[in-house]
Amino acid sequence: MKGSTLAASGSPGIAGKIHGAWSSRMGFLIAAVGSAVGLGNIWKFPYMVGQSGGAAFVAVYLVCIALIGLPIIVAEWLLGRRGQKNPINTMADLARKNNRSKAWVTIGISGTLAAFLILSFYSVIGGWALSYLADAAGGTFNGMDKDAAGALFNGMLASPATLVAWHTVFMVLTVGVVAMGVSSGIERASKLLMPALGVLLVIMVGYGVTTGGFGAAAEYLFKPDWSKLNSTVVLAALGHAFFTLSLGMGVMMAYGSYLGQDVNLLQAARTVAIADTVIALGAGLAIFPIVFANGLDPAAGPGLVFVTLPLAFGSISGGMILGVMFFALLIFAALTSSISLLAPVVEFVEERTPLSRVASTVVAGIAIWALGIAALLSFNVWSDVSILGNNIFDLLDKLTSKFLLPLTGLGAIVFVAWCLDRESVRKELGLGETGTMIWNLVSRFVAPIGVLIVFISSL
Ligand code: PHE
Repeated sequence: MKGSTLAASGSPGIAGKIHGAWSSRMGFLIAAVGSAVGLGNIWKFPYMVGQSGGAAFVAVYLVCIALIGLPIIVAEWLLGRRGQKNPINTMADLARKNNRSKAWVTIGISGTLAAFLILSFYSVIGGWALSYLADAAGGTFNGMDKDAAGALFNGMLASPATLVAWHTVFMVLTVGVVAMGVSSGIERASKLLMPALGVLLVIMVGYGVTTGGFGAAAEYLFKPDWSKLNSTVVLAALGHAFFTLSLGMGVMMAYGSYLGQDVNLLQAARTVAIADTVIALGAGLAIFPIVFANGLDPAAGPGLVFVTLPLAFGSISGGMILGVMFFALLIFAALTSSISLLAPVVEFVEERTPLSRVASTVVAGIAIWALGIAALLSFNVWSDVSILGNNIFDLLDKLTSKFLLPLTGLGAIVFVAWCLDRESVRKELGLGETGTMIWNLVSRFVAPIGVLIVFISSL
């Protein structure tokens, strides 16, 4: 069967063709960081902070990463490494071997569905970044004020043709990388380009310091006003923790299936979580000074990054080059995430149809692209279409971040903590006495109960 026994036999299935069985620990880590770091860190995190009122959200988000995200990364990798298959077959196998209900495959299915839905709107935002790359290269940002920046963004949103065109380009890039099996090259390039993105963020934070808005920004991000906390904010923080760490979609589970036994899961998970968090906080520290210095609205929503950064690029010397570099690197970071989202969907199509891998990739890509069109039309011609009180874009976002991801992740951690042989898990994680105690406490109680409480209280 396609995709089975790959790591064991050394003949990789589709994800193996995409990623290559991990040649080294480093290769795996880079791919995992590449999947985690993306638009979620630079586009989504700052605007969610803004919509949720600042530091209280950040604090809850950090707690969610540490107490819920970290153990779930470990759980997904562990499941993937043991199952050696795609998420759906992995869960079916592990449930059978451990005499558990077949219903556990639901985790694999809901994860794959979530990847499908997320990529549809992720690609639309990837398209925004492409459009801004073109603007940066054309010198559009030069000397821009906040009204011009707002007009540029709103003009883009108002034009279905522009949005469709760039969304299409982004999707073609994603499909092309996956179909041509060059992901490993992309991942090798990220070794260089991800740190470059980090350096550019530092430069932008440096610019933030000069705006006079830096103090207000730091306070906004790190001095919690607990009165802003409510169950909606907590659920948003939890959902974003899943989104930003690529959890609850079977993506990390699929990556785990190519992991050698020598990789220390706890250490690797810590590295991914720290890299991801540092980039997100860096983005916040780059963007909010501009927000406050220019009297912009922190709660402006999904356009926040796109109306703030051009102001910076337009006013510093060398801003044009920096702008081009920034958006190019952002697109690159988005691509290393989008290819990881497409992989499980492609695998699903390939296993269930007679289609070849390339044909499966194209079919999956077209289906996702079509749904993306519906999402982007909600910014203009379909802005009045409302389903359960949300436009299509928001619905896709909320359905996945607040519903599918937490529940899928909950399933993964519960399965590892309660359905697998404890001694074998302890050995696999290399835990000593204290480590075992902490792991048991967190994986069996803190993480699952945390997800459940947040989830139920928000209903
Ligand atoms: N974690 C990615 C980001 O923050 C998004 C993503 C989600 C990628 C799920 C893969 C899987 O941008």
